Amino acid sequence: MKSVRRIPKVMNVPVLVRAALNVPVENGVVTNTFRLRQALQTVEFLQKKGARVILCGHMGDQGTETFEPVYAALKPMLPQLEFCPVSIGKEAQMAVSSMRPGEVLLLENLRRHRGEKLNDADFAKELASLASYFVQDSFDTCHRAHASIVGVPKLLPSYAGLLVEEEVKQLKKALKPKYPALAIIAGAKFATKEPVIVSILDAYDHLFIGGALANDFIQAEGHGVGTSLTSGGDVREMRRLLRNPDLLVPRDVVVASLPGTRGEGEIVPIDAIPKDKAVLDVGPGSLEALAPYLKKAKTILWNGTLGRYENGFIEGTETLARAITATKAYTVLGGGDTVAAVESLGLQNKFSFVSTGGGAMLDFLAYGTLPGIEALR
Ligand code: 3PG
Repeated sequence: MKSVRRIPKVMNVPVLVRAALNVPVENGVVTNTFRLRQALQTVEFLQKKGARVILCGHMGDQGTETFEPVYAALKPMLPQLEFCPVSIGKEAQMAVSSMRPGEVLLLENLRRHRGEKLNDADFAKELASLASYFVQDSFDTCHRAHASIVGVPKLLPSYAGLLVEEEVKQLKKALKPKYPALAIIAGAKFATKEPVIVSILDAYDHLFIGGALANDFIQAEGHGVGTSLTSGGDVREMRRLLRNPDLLVPRDVVVASLPGTRGEGEIVPIDAIPKDKAVLDVGPGSLEALAPYLKKAKTILWNGTLGRYENGFIEGTETLARAITATKAYTVLGGGDTVAAVESLGLQNKFSFVSTGGGAMLDFLAYGTLPGIEALR
């Protein structure tokens, strides 16, 4: 991976930067700017070199979202920023040719074109034709084989941005942890988490499973989970994993009727989850049982909120965040919702490293690399 620090002279040269711009938006306003703030270092580095910085990225899955809220949120951080309402074609070409050194042009959401997700060669070609160099700084999307991740690097001299470099450095460190090492993985969908569970169980001393993922394991243990969210994953594989004593699963949970609101929860052991209720948070007994592992750990890795925090079930996540940040361990946090929850508690600066990746972080930990990183080699 060549670092953007090694990019040749770029005075007045158009440089395409793929950044992590997939941020939450409510009523047309960006509600969490962590990824945008993390995108600044590479943009500013190139601005100082006099480059014409063409910023691109994606938002959402539907191909309907606009980057107008991203532009509004970024503008106060980057006064030289302008917005281009398209991502390719004549209008984009003209906007790039009228840029001056140090200016930044934000292209519209790449996923508005089907070609982005399909890694369409023509789409990649059009995008690449806007610039002379490509810089990959969107670590969060490096697990996707999309046009702006693996297509464009085939067409332009390509470099890793400062954020991608840092993410890779820190997550490599997390892959070779100082022992004792503890990981906490929550979220949903066993099928997508299985590779990282297997790799972490191999590299770490203990792995605690939380969130909706824990429901799958509770069910595989033979308990009812009421109306809880489950992913219907491979039960035999879960049972095989459960035989590993290093895998820790909640022993008690907070249940409520869906959708559930704060204060409604009832704490029950996992073998007494009522049929008409859903698991919405981890129970205090499970966190007490985890406390000695947290205290001893020299490395703690965490991805995924423990409860449905958007409905107010943040207690488990908060208790865990406070316990982790009270240790002296090397602590790594990741996952969009997890970072947002920890930021809302004002604790993000107490972690050694906060990743901008969710799925990308987990895939990196599972496979040691990502398609978007390989594409830069
Ligand atoms: C994320 O938020 O995890 C990344 O930006 C990737 O987004 P995606 O899951 O829509 O590809």
